[in-house]
Amino acid sequence: MIEEKVLENPLLEGLALERHVDSLSFVIFGAHGDLTKRKLVPAMYALFLQGLLPKGFALLGTSRTPMTDEAFRNLMKESLIKFAPDLPFEEDSWARFASSLYYRSTDSSKPEGYEVIKSTLAELDSKHGTKGRHIFYLSTSPSLYLPIIQGLAASGMVTKVKASEPAWPRVVIEKPFGHDLASSIALDEHIHEVMREHQVYRIDHYLGKETVQNIMVFRFANGIFEPLWNRNHIDHIQITNAETIGVEGRGAYYQEAGALRDMIQNHLLQLLALVLMEPPIAMDAEATRDEKIKVLRCLKPLTPGTIDRYAVRGQYGAGFIVGAAVPGFREEDSVAPDAPTPTFAAIKLEVDNWRWAGVPIYIRSGKRLAKSVTEVAVHFKKAPHRLFSGDKCEAEQQENILVMQIQPEEGISLKFATKQPGPTTMVRWLNMDFKYGTAFGARTPTAYERLILDCLIGDPSLFARTDFVEASWQYIEPLLEHWDNQKPGDFPNYKAGSWGPKAADDLIGSTGHAWRKL
Ligand code: BG6
Repeated sequence: MIEEKVLENPLLEGLALERHVDSLSFVIFGAHGDLTKRKLVPAMYALFLQGLLPKGFALLGTSRTPMTDEAFRNLMKESLIKFAPDLPFEEDSWARFASSLYYRSTDSSKPEGYEVIKSTLAELDSKHGTKGRHIFYLSTSPSLYLPIIQGLAASGMVTKVKASEPAWPRVVIEKPFGHDLASSIALDEHIHEVMREHQVYRIDHYLGKETVQNIMVFRFANGIFEPLWNRNHIDHIQITNAETIGVEGRGAYYQEAGALRDMIQNHLLQLLALVLMEPPIAMDAEATRDEKIKVLRCLKPLTPGTIDRYAVRGQYGAGFIVGAAVPGFREEDSVAPDAPTPTFAAIKLEVDNWRWAGVPIYIRSGKRLAKSVTEVAVHFKKAPHRLFSGDKCEAEQQENILVMQIQPEEGISLKFATKQPGPTTMVRWLNMDFKYGTAFGARTPTAYERLILDCLIGDPSLFARTDFVEASWQYIEPLLEHWDNQKPGDFPNYKAGSWGPKAADDLIGSTGHAWRKL
């Protein structure tokens, strides 16, 4: 009899995770909110299916909405089916997972609420063997971060532990961390009164994306790219985050935040740091974060006198996305008809250090653009001498471009010149492509899966450290102030479904470059 052989993808060898997770209880503030339904609970369920949750585990959701444990479990089940269709749903495994879910309605502005949470955690500790190890995840409106942390401290659920002791309890804080430099420093000061830095996990979900983590592997596990990764070989770098979506029912939040606070201060500056940093001395949380912060410290500061040459803002008006008419930003729900909020921003950054001097870095981020794409494109210098020319060659000498595609197509591509087959020497520019999906043939874990797991384990490498958050606010602060003081006269200045305002093309064009056509 021929034995049936299961074919396995050899690329997946060695992916077994051998990290230890202690039993613990996980408390979510804002458990009735969108993030819990769309991301947090699906991520926990995915970890459960992979056997990555600890043996003793309880999840306690809390928010103002009154709900029983049963109603919470049902709500989470419906959300899972709706928002995480790629996860295999099966009643038996759901029932086992759901038996660890609990819910208490509390008002985070009142001390009684914390007493309810405290006594529930004591029950769960004995029922699930979670031994007083607690993680508090703040998925609420940012205005509640401080009152919740103070409430947790006042009730004794959050205490300062020595830097040498295991970091229990831990607090996970969603972005935005502060509204500007002063508020982020103030928030940190209050947090550090009751907790030490190693207990604080400031989440930036971009850092949990597989392709973002791969930037470090690509740069520092390969020998051939790093020698080219500098001003001698790189002409410029473009980092793009383009979204077709608008504000998706978050008009009130977005009107205050805008593109700078929503995407650039956090996600894009994190990406930038990973692309430009020096190799860390070790792959641990502090060594990596030490190198990332140095990048921000080298950014040439924006000043009121230079901002107009270095940054451009835009706001979308009505237009079409994939053939469907969509309203302009000022017509969105909960947005003022004269809102000055930028829904698009592009910045030319200069890095004052030995490696990057003279290499412009362009970043752009916008809502309601023509396509949803996030990528980092490294444009290398052109070959120094044009050997192949004439009718049979592509008219213009081009450059090699290495693109790290973050989403939606996750992968890496390298553009290079090649000879077209035939009797003459005809140069063609092609892409050599690596695609995650086809190479590994495996489901890509979501960013929240990875980050929640790291937090359970106690590994803060992929979370933002206080100095990074402050330095990123410091960098964009002059821009925030300048744009607040000079109301835009031309908003809306780009149509939904376009590639942003013309001024963004002029910004990059002034140095002889052009945005990539995506
Ligand atoms: C969030 C922003 O942090 O990131 C949203 O608040 C944005 O406005 C989202 O749409 C983008 O995340 P992703 O993973 O879809 O690129």
